[in-house]
Amino acid sequence: MATVANRVARQAFLKAKTVQNSTQANFNTFNESSKGVKIIGLLAGATAAVGGVGTFIALKGAVHASDAPHVHPPAFPWYHGGYFTELDEKSVRRGYQVYKQVCSACHSVSQVRFREMVGVIFTEAEAKAEAAEYTIIDGYDENSQPVKRPGKIFDSIPSPYDNKIQAENANNGVAPPDLSYVVLGREGGEDYIFSLLTGYCDPPSGVNLPEGVYYNPYFPGGLIAMAQALYMKSSI
Ligand code: HEC
Repeated sequence: MATVANRVARQAFLKAKTVQNSTQANFNTFNESSKGVKIIGLLAGATAAVGGVGTFIALKGAVHASDAPHVHPPAFPWYHGGYFTELDEKSVRRGYQVYKQVCSACHSVSQVRFREMVGVIFTEAEAKAEAAEYTIIDGYDENSQPVKRPGKIFDSIPSPYDNKIQAENANNGVAPPDLSYVVLGREGGEDYIFSLLTGYCDPPSGVNLPEGVYYNPYFPGGLIAMAQALYMKSSI
């Protein structure tokens, strides 16, 4: 049961978020032609996080505080960051698995269609089979009941929630953002995403976390409504 103090702290957190989200919206301008970079970049970041690659570098990296109360991510030596290198196909494939098994419970990637993964991580036949595993709501019948069918290659990956209100209600009042372009939409790109996913820690003394709020030094302001989603396993 939330105490009064906790409720007040939560309200303050949610209020601060409204301001923060409108600031973040400025980052969200992206060029349509950079399509291929979107989910794939995120996937590579998520995969690296799961694999634990770079933890050492993360710890040793040049982290320095700025005026904003958060830590800047170090620059990681991404394989795809080279002039003559492309995205590492196996990393992207594993990243898609991670998205599917973990992140997709809360986050949509609604700008990504199954056919866009053809030639990246799937053959056409595999992408068709993958799409068919999903159920798509394709309009509503005369009784306002959803018409369902298996996914097709031209469909987008279905979202976990029907609308923003449902997403907020399921996540303590903060809707998980769509991740399609998040790599391009955040300062630091995949370095930031990697650091965010692996950077959860206890809050500094004196910082009280309202219910449903967690501490992550890489997140602007430090207080984030997403719980730690990935855990390092020394065996991988
Ligand atoms: C249980 C639900 C849940 C799961 C699972 C989850 N997230 Fe989140 N995520 C959230 C919520 C809620 C937010 C909004 C946090 C906020 O603004 O305080 C968020 C925010 C984010 C952000 C944006 C941070 C920013 O700078 O605004 C990224 C990136 C992200 N999540 C990536 C992931 C990835 C990758 C996974 C899977 C490995 C994942 N999330 C799993 C709920 C979840």
